[in-house]
Amino acid sequence: MLSGGMTVPGDKSISHRAVMFAAIAEGVTEIRGFLEGEDCRATAAAFEAMGVRIERPRYGCLVVHGAGLRGLRPPAAALDLGNSGTAMRLLAGVLSAQAFDSVLIGDASLMRRPMERVAAPLRRMGADVRTNAGRPPVAIAGGRTLRGAAHVLDVASAQVKSAILLAGLHARGRTCVSEPRPSRDHTERMLPAFGIPVSHDGGAVCVDGPARLVATTLDVPGDFSSAAFFIVAALIAGREQTTIRSVGVNPTRTGLLAVLRLMGADIRLHPQPDLGGEPVADVEVRPSRLRGIAVPVELVESMIDEFPALFAAAAVAEGETVVTGAAELRLKESDRIAVMAVGLGNLGVAAQALPDGIRVRGGPVNGGIVESHGDHRVAMAFAVLAARAAGPVVIRDVQNVATSYPAFEAAARRGGLVLAEED
Ligand code: S3P
Repeated sequence: MLSGGMTVPGDKSISHRAVMFAAIAEGVTEIRGFLEGEDCRATAAAFEAMGVRIERPRYGCLVVHGAGLRGLRPPAAALDLGNSGTAMRLLAGVLSAQAFDSVLIGDASLMRRPMERVAAPLRRMGADVRTNAGRPPVAIAGGRTLRGAAHVLDVASAQVKSAILLAGLHARGRTCVSEPRPSRDHTERMLPAFGIPVSHDGGAVCVDGPARLVATTLDVPGDFSSAAFFIVAALIAGREQTTIRSVGVNPTRTGLLAVLRLMGADIRLHPQPDLGGEPVADVEVRPSRLRGIAVPVELVESMIDEFPALFAAAAVAEGETVVTGAAELRLKESDRIAVMAVGLGNLGVAAQALPDGIRVRGGPVNGGIVESHGDHRVAMAFAVLAARAAGPVVIRDVQNVATSYPAFEAAARRGGLVLAEED
C-alpha cells in the first residue's frame, strides 16, 4: 500500500498559460508535459475555435501555431470553458483587446462563480466587459483600445493578476498589478520565455504593451496540487516511503508542505533541474503521526487549492486543526468549506464550518456517503481519506476529477487505495 515511486500529470495552471501564450505568440511553440485534463483542453479548444492550429503529435505534447497578438479570429459561437475558472478569467484578459465580440460560458459550477473581479479591472483599461449580475456569461465587446493601468487588488488572485497582465500585453503603456499577498507567479515566470520582460516595481509586477510574444519550447512540471493527494495518502495510509517524482515546487504553491511539516509530517525534497523556469523536486514522504495545528494565515494563498487534501489529513490528526482567513475557498469549484464540512461530518469526523475557514477534530473515520458536488479536489480528498475509514466510503458526482487529473483513479489503485464503482 502506497510505497515506491510515482509521477503526477502536468501542472494545470502552467498548462493553461502555456497554451494561451503560445496561441498569441508569433511562431510555433512546442509544449511538453501538457496536462490532458478537461480544463486545459477547454482552453486549447477555445483558441482552436479562434483559428489557432494546434497539433497533438503524442499524449501530453501540443504544437501550437501562434496567431500573434492580433491574429485571433472571431469564434462562431460562445466559448465554453467547462469547469475552468482559470480558463474563463485569463481568456477575458485576452479577449478584451480583440477586434471581435465574444461570449464566455461554462458548466453549472462555473456559471455560478464571480467574474466582476476580472471584469472591473479590465474596464479600467478601457475594455467593454459585461457580466450577468457578476457571474457568467461574460460578454466582451471587440474593437476597444486598451490603456495600461496600475491595479491594486484587494484579494490575492493569480487569475485576476494574469488576466490583467494578458490585457496589458495588448494595451498601450505600462500595466502593473499589486496584491495584498503574493499569489502563484507562473505568468511572470513564463512570459520571459516568450521574450517578454516582466518588471517588478515595489510590490507590483508590470508588463509594457503592446508586446510581441515569440514562440518557444516549454516543459511543464508535475502538478503539485495533484501530488498533494498522494502526499497526504502516503502520510496517513502509507506503509513505507513514497516518492513522487518531478513535481513543481514553486514556493507560491507549496504552503501545504510547510503546514504538514508543522503537523509532524516527514517530507523531504530532492531538488531536480528546473523545468520552464519553475523549480522541480522529487518529493519523498514517510508515513507520519500528525497533530492538529492552527494553520498560519500567511500560508493560505500558497496552499489555496490544497485545503481539501489538508482537511483529509486533519481528519486523522491528533487534536484540532483550525483554518481561518480562507474565505476564498467558498468561491472555488464548490464551496469547499461547506462541502468538506458536511462530507467529513457524514464520515463521523467533527468538522465545524467557519465563515472563513473550518475546525476539524481528528479521530476515527467511519464509512458513509459523501457528495463532492462535482468538485474534483473534494472527490480526490475523500478518496484519500477513505483509506483510513472503517467502512466503505461512497463518493458521489466524481466525473470532474477528469478536469485536473484524468488518471487519478488508476494512479490511486496502483498506489493501493481501494476504489470501486458503485452499482
Ligand atoms: C489559479 C489560481 C487560483 C487557483 C486556481 C488556479 C491560476 O485561483 O485556486 O485553481 O491558475 O491562476 P484564484 O486566482 O482565484 O486564487
